[in-house]
Amino acid sequence: MSSTLQSTAPSLTADYPRASLGHFPTPLEALTRLSTEAGSQKPLWVKRDDCTGLAFGGNKVRQLEFYFGDALAQGATLALITGAVQSNFVRTAAASAAKLGLKCLVQLEERVAGKNETYSTSGNVLLNHLLGARVEYFPVGEDEHGADAALEQHAAHARAAGEVPYVIHLSEHPRPLGTLGYVVAVEELVSQAASMGLELSQVVVASGSAVTHAGVLVGLRALGCDDVRVVGACVRREADAQRARVMRVAQRTEELIGHSGVVRECDVVVDDTFLDPGYGHMNAPTRATLLSAARTEALLVDPVYTAKSLACALEWVKRDDVSGDTVFMHTGGTPALFGYATDLWEMM
Ligand SMILES: Cc1ncc(COP(=O)(O)O)c(C=O)c1O
Repeated sequence: MSSTLQSTAPSLTADYPRASLGHFPTPLEALTRLSTEAGSQKPLWVKRDDCTGLAFGGNKVRQLEFYFGDALAQGATLALITGAVQSNFVRTAAASAAKLGLKCLVQLEERVAGKNETYSTSGNVLLNHLLGARVEYFPVGEDEHGADAALEQHAAHARAAGEVPYVIHLSEHPRPLGTLGYVVAVEELVSQAASMGLELSQVVVASGSAVTHAGVLVGLRALGCDDVRVVGACVRREADAQRARVMRVAQRTEELIGHSGVVRECDVVVDDTFLDPGYGHMNAPTRATLLSAARTEALLVDPVYTAKSLACALEWVKRDDVSGDTVFMHTGGTPALFGYATDLWEMM
């Protein structure tokens, strides 16, 4: 095992190579002032995965520890990834490659209509360039398979030129290794919650590719936490499509860790209340949540993912059927604040 790989024993993920990229454990904190302002009797807790460390951090760092663990084990020299223009996955993959000494090709998809030059050049885009990635573009925003196929073509060219490419796919994959990062995250969370005297009842998380959501859900069920509800706040697709996707990714995750059948259909809870008006755009309650989190807790959430999932968490923490504590998984994304500067100025 090379020095950049670390063993995860006795984790459920111990069979998989993992590159060491993030700062763990991330803090677990109470959002007392924000919860009060939102009208909740109980504080919402936040798992600070915005603080995973690598180049502004976020959830993707946990996922990438397993993709890059696999890439290193295969002797890869070049990582390839595709995502929206302001993708955090792309930015943290560029950072991971830089840190581990691999080259990186990132492909940016025109997924969000009506955006200006700040969106196309600041935030995550700026960071991709700073981190030394080669940046390519893909004209369609809603074609996961097409984007992956274009990435495979770049990989084929690189292979012909002597590189060993490693492609991180956007579309659903039979081996969603990134989910293992969130199995590790819940192992961390469950032990933290126990040592802090929390009674874990709910975890609320942004649900996009469903990798984070599935990892949290499978991890909790595999650990025997059968009563902890996991709520996925839809950020990309409406509830029915997202529910089906989460179930498929969860089943593949169960296979990866050898715990098939721990997740039941009824365990997959999704909420698309804050999705409107669609991926990469905010509605009025989401904007209000973003400002409120900043001004009561100095907690920065992003316009695409975490403002929506936090707005959702502030609703679920108030439900009567929740006896214990609710944790909002802050999945990061904060560099996108700068890409969305024009929208943010307009709402202040
Ligand atoms: C900041 C942030 N939060 C949440 C998500 C959604 O995570 P997942 O794709 O694992 O569902 C993403 C995905 O890009 C993200 O960048």
